[in-house]
Parts: sequence; C-alpha cells; structure tokens
Amino acid sequence: MKLVFLGPPGAGKGTQAERICKRFNLAHISTGDMLRYEIAQKTPLGLKAAELINGGHLVPDEMVVGMVSERMQSAEHGFLLDGFPRTVSQAEKLTEITEIDCVVNIDVPSERLVERIVRRRSCPDCDIVYDIGELENGEVCRQCGKPLVIRKDDTPEVAHERFHVYNERTAPIIKYYEDKGLLLTVNGDKSKSEVEQEILRGLGKADA
Ligand code: AP5
Ligand code: MG
Repeated sequence: MKLVFLGPPGAGKGTQAERICKRFNLAHISTGDMLRYEIAQKTPLGLKAAELINGGHLVPDEMVVGMVSERMQSAEHGFLLDGFPRTVSQAEKLTEITEIDCVVNIDVPSERLVERIVRRRSCPDCDIVYDIGELENGEVCRQCGKPLVIRKDDTPEVAHERFHVYNERTAPIIKYYEDKGLLLTVNGDKSKSEVEQEILRGLGKADA
C-alpha cells in the first residue's frame, strides 16, 4: 500500500498515520517529524529549516523531496506519507517518482483546529502525539516515558500562519488528486477511532 495523508495543521494526520501504519506494517514517512529531527540534531539542513518551521512557513521543495524519495525506497511493505506532498509541485514530483494508491484527505472544520493544536503534547523521541485530556499520568510518553514537549510552532499565532500557508499552498493539491481519481475525503471531526474506521472503510479494509 502506498498512501498519502492530507489535511490542515491539527487535522489528525499523525494520529491516524500511527494507527494505520501499525495495522498494515507501513513505513510512516512524516516530513514534519524528519525536519524536527534534523533541527534537534542541529544538522546543516536543520539549522536552515528551523526558522521557517518555527514561523509556520514551508521549507523549500528541494529540502524535502530527496529526503522523502530516499525513505520510500527503503520501505519494503509500503508507506504512508504524512505532510508530503504539500505543494502542487511536490505532488507532481511524487507522481514522477511513484504511483500512489490512495490520498486520504482528513477534513476538519477550521474552528476545531487551533484548539487541538494548543492542547497537543508531543513525544520528542517517538513522535507520538497526545491531547492533554488523555494524560492522566502526567505529561510523559506512554511508550518511552520521556517528558512530552510543546512544539515551537504550536502557538495560536504561528498556527494561524500555518493555516494561511495551508490554504494558499497545500489545499490546491486536493483538486490535483481529485482529478486523478485518487482522493478519499473523510470526516475528521469525530472520535479518533471513528475516523480510523471511516478511513479503513474507504480503503476497503473495514475487516482488517
Ligand atoms: P507537520 O509536522 O506536518 O505539521 P502540520 O501539517 O501542520 O500538521 P500537524 O502535525 O500540526 O497536525 P496533524 O494533522 O498531524 O494532527 P495530529 O495528529 O498531531 O509540519 C510542520 C512544519 O514542517 C510545516 O509547517 C512546514 O514548515 C514543515 N514541512 C513539513 N512537511 C513539509 C513539506 N512537505 N514541504 C515543506 N515544508 C514542510 O493531531 C493534532 C491534535 O489533535 C493532537 O493533540 C491529537 O491528539 C488531537 N486529535 C487528533 N485526532 C483527533 C480527533 N479525531 N478528535 C479529537 N482530537 C484529535
Ligand atoms: Mg503531524
């Protein structure tokens, strides 16, 4: 399976990607997570990307395309792209590199998104995300026990810039994939399990 998960900041791409990848043993390729890793390691690429990401802007296409295509090649059992492509030109490059089976567009009303973003806590190591309401044993990762962090771009101000960038640069991809007959839009404004079930039904895998 070769999947793309699309949706605005806070839509639940990472949350659903984690569930679907576990279920089907897919490689979870998240450009946001990969870029945050580069920033944490202070690599030359990370140093260039930090200011853009922390301000809610996209990094240049050439910074992510090579990184993603390398990871796709080593994914033996298929992959799920989370946060890539993010511009029509990235989508065109992806079409040149490989054939995608389905593009899942997670649709959530914009008024829900800021609230989700400011309530999010992230594990810096496992990249698992939590809503603060789920953290009955304190702000630590359930998988590795590390203290959770608030992403630098998860302030209301930067989130609004991210929504603006999404509407301008990323939303046009929806039509690109609709025209190719690959788009599956799901209602992301339901519980995490209900959204997962809708994705599975849409993929024809409701019994998986
Ligand atoms: P990235 O990390 O991809 O951020 P994003 O697209 O803004 O999306 P988020 O990770 O914020 O949200 P999500 O949809 O994953 O939601 P989540 O599951 O966490 O990218 C970050 C930055 O990197 C970009 O701004 C850009 O600068 C750069 N970048 C990345 N890729 C790039 C590319 N290809 N080209 C150029 N630049 C790139 O859920 C959010 C919260 O809601 C969580 O707390 C979760 O618990 C909760 N939640 C999830 N589902 C539900 C539900 N159904 N009900 C209630 N709560 C829910
Ligand atoms: Mg994410």
